[in-house]
Amino acid sequence: MIVPIAILGSGKGSNCRAILQHIRDGKLSAEVKVVISDVLGAPILDIAREFGVPNTYLPPGRFRTRLEPAAEAELVEMLQEAKVELVVLAGFMRVLKEQMLSAFPRRIINIHPSLLPKFPGLEAWKQALVGGEKVTGVTVHFVDEQIDHGDVIAQRAVPVLSGDTPETLHARIQTVEHILYPEALENVCQQLQP
Ligand code: GRF
Repeated sequence: MIVPIAILGSGKGSNCRAILQHIRDGKLSAEVKVVISDVLGAPILDIAREFGVPNTYLPPGRFRTRLEPAAEAELVEMLQEAKVELVVLAGFMRVLKEQMLSAFPRRIINIHPSLLPKFPGLEAWKQALVGGEKVTGVTVHFVDEQIDHGDVIAQRAVPVLSGDTPETLHARIQTVEHILYPEALENVCQQLQP
């Protein structure tokens, strides 16, 4: 079965690209029905276009870290209309609330650039560097009502090397993300098979 999914993101969309490429290469049994961004003109929307995937800007409303309730209701409606089974967050910078969580229980997945529960929150690679960690990593997890929290689907370690800057460490983490996220999604899709 090909699982219909949606991807939500606010930024550059490199994970979105990795997912779309894995699908194109026949390595992920999903179809991206729609890519949605809360940022007008975000590069992730261009990537969707490049792959011929429907994409849309969702005006987020007046809050900074979450969607306005009317916007979240619109999001639920769009996703239900597109009949998506999984909602994949790929750099989506807003916290999803009750409306989304109850419409898609255990069906929203996120990727975070640390070995959770270590370093939730913003710029986790910087937190690892400042904390003097020798190893950090990547976590794919189900989304719940807490930030960067929820059952872990997959994790992979990434070494912190001496001389790393935030940029070099983040780049190494992202290389791993682009492999781990499609792999983890494929496992979830296999488990959704009837
Ligand atoms: C990734 O580092 C991901 O772990 C975090 O946001 C970033 C998104 O990057 N949640 P991109 O837009 O996929 O390049």
